[in-house]
Amino acid sequence: MSLDIQKIREDFPILKQQIYKRPLIYFDNAASTQKPRQVIDAIRYYYESDNCNIHRGVHYLSVKATEAYEEARREIRHFINAKSTHEIIFTKGTTESLNLVASSFGKKFIRPGDEVITTIMEHHSNFVPWQQMCLEREARLRVAGIDDQGRLNMEELEGMINEKTRMIALTHVSNVLGTINPVSEIIALAHRHDIPVLIDGAQGISHLPIDVQELDCDFYCFSGHKMYAPMGIGVLYGKERWLEALPPYQMGGEMIREVFVDRTTFNDLPFKFEAGTPNVEGVAGLRSAVKYLQELGMGEIAAYENSLLHYATAKLAPVKDIRIYGTSSQKASLISFLIGNIHPYDAGMVIDKMGIAVRTGHHCAQPLIDYLKIAGTIRTSFAFYNTIEEIDALVKAVYRVREMFS
Ligand SMILES: Cc1ncc(COP(=O)(O)O)c(C=O)c1O
Repeated sequence: MSLDIQKIREDFPILKQQIYKRPLIYFDNAASTQKPRQVIDAIRYYYESDNCNIHRGVHYLSVKATEAYEEARREIRHFINAKSTHEIIFTKGTTESLNLVASSFGKKFIRPGDEVITTIMEHHSNFVPWQQMCLEREARLRVAGIDDQGRLNMEELEGMINEKTRMIALTHVSNVLGTINPVSEIIALAHRHDIPVLIDGAQGISHLPIDVQELDCDFYCFSGHKMYAPMGIGVLYGKERWLEALPPYQMGGEMIREVFVDRTTFNDLPFKFEAGTPNVEGVAGLRSAVKYLQELGMGEIAAYENSLLHYATAKLAPVKDIRIYGTSSQKASLISFLIGNIHPYDAGMVIDKMGIAVRTGHHCAQPLIDYLKIAGTIRTSFAFYNTIEEIDALVKAVYRVREMFS
C-alpha cells in the first residue's frame, strides 16, 4: 500500500505556513522532524486530563498517568521488538542514552589498557562520551575509517578487534553521509569475540524498521524528536543482562529501593535508570508518534523516502561542480553536498530565502568533516511528508546558488 502524501501533509499544521511569501519546504528532518496533529493532541490531552506525577501516588490521577506511561513503554517495546519492558529506559534523548551507557559501562568494565572501537562517522554524542571515558580510564579509543563512497572500512574495523576490545559503539545511519552501516554483520562479528555492540539509532529509527532481537544489538539509542515526537524524550534499549550488570547513572527519586543513612539499595529495571520525575508528557507524545508511524508502516515509509532520495540524487548529480558526500548504495534519505568552492553557509542563506530549510555546517561530526578535509556541507534530509515538487524547488535553488556565486 503506498502512502497518501497529500493526506499525510494535512496532519502537519506547521507545513501549511508561508515563509518569505513562499510555502515552507522543510528539508531539515535529520536535525528534527515536524510533529503531526495527533502528537500535539496527545500532549494537550495529557495536560487536560492526566497531568500528575507518576509512580508515587495512590490517588486516581496519579494511577491514570502511571498506567498511560507504562502502556507507552509496552508499545515502544513492541515497536522495536524488545524482549521485555525492563529493557526500555526513557531518557532525554539519544545523547543522554549514549552518555548513560558510556559512563556506567566504563565504570564497571573498562580498565587501563582496554580498547573501545568506534568510527570516524559518529555524531559527537557517540564520540565524545567514549573519548572522554577512555581518557579518564586510560583506555584507548580506536576509530575505523571510511572509503571514498562513505562506507565503513570493514576490514579496518575487523582488524581492530582483539582481546582488549570491550565495546564497539557505532551509528546505524550517518547523519552526514546517509550511509546505512552493516550493523547486523558487525554485531555477529563482535559477538563471535564476546564483545557487546551499541548502536546509535538517532538516524535509523525514523527511516528503517527496527527489530532489536533480530539485530541482536546489546544497546540501541534513539530520540523522540527525530521520529515525529516531542523534544526532550528518548529511549535507551539494552539487553536485560547488560542493564542488570551496569551501575545506575543518576541518583535520586524512583531509582532507589531503600535508603539508609549509610547506604542505598537500587530499584529494579527499568526504574534503576530513571531517576527523578520523568518527562511524562514527552512519553505521551512519543507513544502517539509510534502509533502514527505504525499506522503508516515503516516499510512503506522506507520505500517512499528511498524514492525521494533517488529522485533528488538524479536531479542534483548533473549540477556543475557539485560534490555529493556519501554515495553508498545503502543510504538513508539525506544528501550532503558542496557546490564548487561556495561556502555552505552562503549557499544555505540563499536556499533559505527561497523558502527551503536545509542545514549547513559540520553537523556535530567534526572528526568526519576533518577527515573529508572540508569546512562542512549543505545537508538536505527528507521525510515522508516531502514531495517531488519540493525537491524540484530545491534543485532550482541550487542552480540559483551556482549562478549567484560563479
Ligand atoms: C547520528 C546521531 N546521533 C546522535 C544524535 C544526537 O541526538 P539528540 O541531540 O537528539 O540527543 C544525532 C542528532 O543529530 C545524530 O544525528
